[in-house]
Amino acid sequence: MAQINDDFTDRFDLREFTPGTDADGAPDERTAAWLEAVAMGFHESTGSPENAARMASYFVADHETFLGVYVRQPLPGSVDETWPAGTFTWFRKPLSWGDGSSVDTQAISAVTVRPTERRRGILRAMMMHALTRGVEEGYAMASLTASEGTIYRRFGFGSAIRERAVSVRRNRALPFLAPTTGTVTVVPLAWLADGVGKDVFARFHERTPGSMVRNTGTWPVVFGEFTGNGEKAKDVRAAVHRADGSDVVDGYVTWRVKQDGKDTAVEVVDLVYATDAAYLSLWEFLLSIDLNDVVKYNRSRLDDPIVTALGDNRAYDVDHEEDHVWLRVLDVPATLRSRPYAVDGSIVLEVSDSLGFAAGTYRLDVASGVGTVTRVSDAPDVSLDVADLGALLLGSVSPVTLAAAGLLRAAEPAVAVRLRAMLLPARTPHGITYF
Ligand SMILES: CC(C)(COP(=O)(O)OP(=O)(O)OC[C@H]1O[C@@H](n2cnc3c(N)ncnc32)[C@H](O)[C@@H]1OP(=O)(O)O)[C@@H](O)C(=O)NCCC(=O)NCCS
Repeated sequence: MAQINDDFTDRFDLREFTPGTDADGAPDERTAAWLEAVAMGFHESTGSPENAARMASYFVADHETFLGVYVRQPLPGSVDETWPAGTFTWFRKPLSWGDGSSVDTQAISAVTVRPTERRRGILRAMMMHALTRGVEEGYAMASLTASEGTIYRRFGFGSAIRERAVSVRRNRALPFLAPTTGTVTVVPLAWLADGVGKDVFARFHERTPGSMVRNTGTWPVVFGEFTGNGEKAKDVRAAVHRADGSDVVDGYVTWRVKQDGKDTAVEVVDLVYATDAAYLSLWEFLLSIDLNDVVKYNRSRLDDPIVTALGDNRAYDVDHEEDHVWLRVLDVPATLRSRPYAVDGSIVLEVSDSLGFAAGTYRLDVASGVGTVTRVSDAPDVSLDVADLGALLLGSVSPVTLAAAGLLRAAEPAVAVRLRAMLLPARTPHGITYF
């Protein structure tokens, strides 16, 4: 396993700590300095003292573990005297398999390295420390969302789910090909935030492969209380869906209206659905709001049913597509045992892992949809890197596609097809959580 070298430890001190607040709720000194370093890394600001206190309270509520890498001999006057040069955090985040079961992941976030100290191994040291701790804490896998696509594969992470920013033009979208059902009503944000919205999310999470439980700090943003920058939001509205004859809210949307070049755009802030009917109805509602040209949604899944539902499928344009959640398997048996399978069968997987955590050959036996995993020394049916195992897990990336990309080697082509069938999820994976 990779080790931190002497040059690194001569220059830097890696410290793990729990974020804290003082008696007034303000971040303690160490936490405040860490927040400043993260804000610099992402070109953001910690904002007002109230905002910094709020952020610290979210980190405390989520039981985060912080890492800071400190320069041992800071030059006088530099921020290195108090701020860490590298930041990193992890916390528990369940990932849903979409059948009511889930697996806890070691969710990694706030990864930054100060420009003056980059490419000296700070990221590598923080990642190795964190993953080793993740194994100690019993996590089957780690997860993250990335700011760039080339950073994390070397650490064994594979992109397991993608997302699309889309625009749907109103003038060609309606009517839908099939009638929607249920009732949509506009509601005050405070009413949505008072339990109803989180209940809908809990039901969405349970039935949606790839969904991840949200950070405490996400809710005030999606419920239109604050902007992502911590300022008071003033322009967000909300609507909910109920099935015909039911009082129970089974979907909600929050949105704002913005000028986007020549277009007036309805920009979706959050769209959460516990049923497919709610998803369609809420889209129909968004597309029926007058005095705008286009609905913009940044969380569209691949194979989004809205495309098929639209009166004219060409009303849907993909503005951008990229990786969303990356998964890193730490414990192959625990990971493969935790998920459901669509088809029974047996496959021997040879997993390579340059960091050592998951390397080995494993036989997966699935009977009645339940997997058991045994370490074996048999000849493998498929060989792949741990990053590609992570990519396959949700069933959004196909083993057949990975074989075509030269990343998965199958003893015979039929094995990749069999593995694809076994991993097929009940619904299209959809991730609407950022961390
Ligand atoms: C990305 C970042 C964290 C890298 O930190 P770092 O301390 O310079 O990285 P290290 O020196 O530990 O490098 C580790 C490895 O990653 C590679 N690497 C680092 N940054 C990379 C990048 N942006 N793209 C591709 N590879 C990168 C290094 O070449 C090195 O590879 P090797 O070990 O195979 O030789 C840092 O540049 C940064 O803070 N960027 C801005 C914030 C950001 O993007 N954070 C990521 C949030 S998800």
